[in-house]
Amino acid sequence: MSKKINETYTDEVKTVDADCCEPGCCEEESVGAVETAKDIKQVVREKYTEVVTADSGCCGPSCCSPGVETFFNESYDHLQGYTKDADYGLGCGIPTEFVNIQKGETVLDLGSGAGNDAFVAQQLVGKNGQVIGLDMTPAMIKKANENKEKLGVENVRFVLGDIEDMPLESDSVDVVISNCVMNLVPDKVKGYGEVYRVLKPGGRFSMSDIITVGELTQEVRHAAALYAGCVSGALQKEEYLDIVKQSGFKNIQLPKERMIELPDELLLQHLSAEALQDFRDSGASIYSITVVGEK
Ligand SMILES: C[S@@+](CC[C@H](N)C(=O)[O-])C[C@H]1O[C@@H](n2cnc3c(N)ncnc32)[C@H](O)[C@@H]1O
Repeated sequence: MSKKINETYTDEVKTVDADCCEPGCCEEESVGAVETAKDIKQVVREKYTEVVTADSGCCGPSCCSPGVETFFNESYDHLQGYTKDADYGLGCGIPTEFVNIQKGETVLDLGSGAGNDAFVAQQLVGKNGQVIGLDMTPAMIKKANENKEKLGVENVRFVLGDIEDMPLESDSVDVVISNCVMNLVPDKVKGYGEVYRVLKPGGRFSMSDIITVGELTQEVRHAAALYAGCVSGALQKEEYLDIVKQSGFKNIQLPKERMIELPDELLLQHLSAEALQDFRDSGASIYSITVVGEK
């Protein structure tokens, strides 16, 4: 499984760097052959560092992912705790909506970015609760801490760390949330295993993520990744849910599933008319989902 994921990441990185970014933005060094999980993580770090440090004109908020905002992320305007400076349009759902977060609970947000979901969770847990945001990109942690300073909230902390090996105690959190991150994790078995480990018995999780239904050809994956990012590492739905189940979770449900429309005009920029027809005939597609479960 990991080989397949590595290959697809390799394809995305090469394609994106070749076709999308302006010169000087996504440097050549980040193109190279992506062969190991370590390399994948380095590329992911570089990409999200660019996202959060780009001033303008080059890689914008959805660096190397034109269209991502329109097609994946949802509006947070109506949520208490919404913080515009933390919203880079990088999510693909609203994980806090489906996990009934209670006052006083401890919530862990995986791949917390600039803190978009963490600050919403902070409102839900109230002043007696705790929120931990975990991210492996130092620039994201820095931005999240700047946002925290501006908000003046005490009970949120951002921790630098890897989802596959979290620097957190076992059985220590009530709720794990995550928004469009697990698809970027090379070893999802390890990632979900860690989610299980850090949750208290009876703890819950809610993950918004990208999956595929049916087999996507490499060509379609390339085109989709250029358009909307976060597709290259996406697993098929059954495989994804199997990992969640095998990790030990129960009461696994999918309260939200949304098909991502990929317009013909876009696909035709990267696919032949014949390949497009094959894709349409196959019935395969990309979905954003939110999956919930309990330990
Ligand atoms: C698509 S962005 C989502 C950010 C945030 N959840 C949001 O909705 O704004 C993915 C984030 O996950 C982080 N990330 C990716 N893989 C990770 C890993 N293995 N461990 C920790 N963080 C990771 C990246 O650094 C990035 O900040």
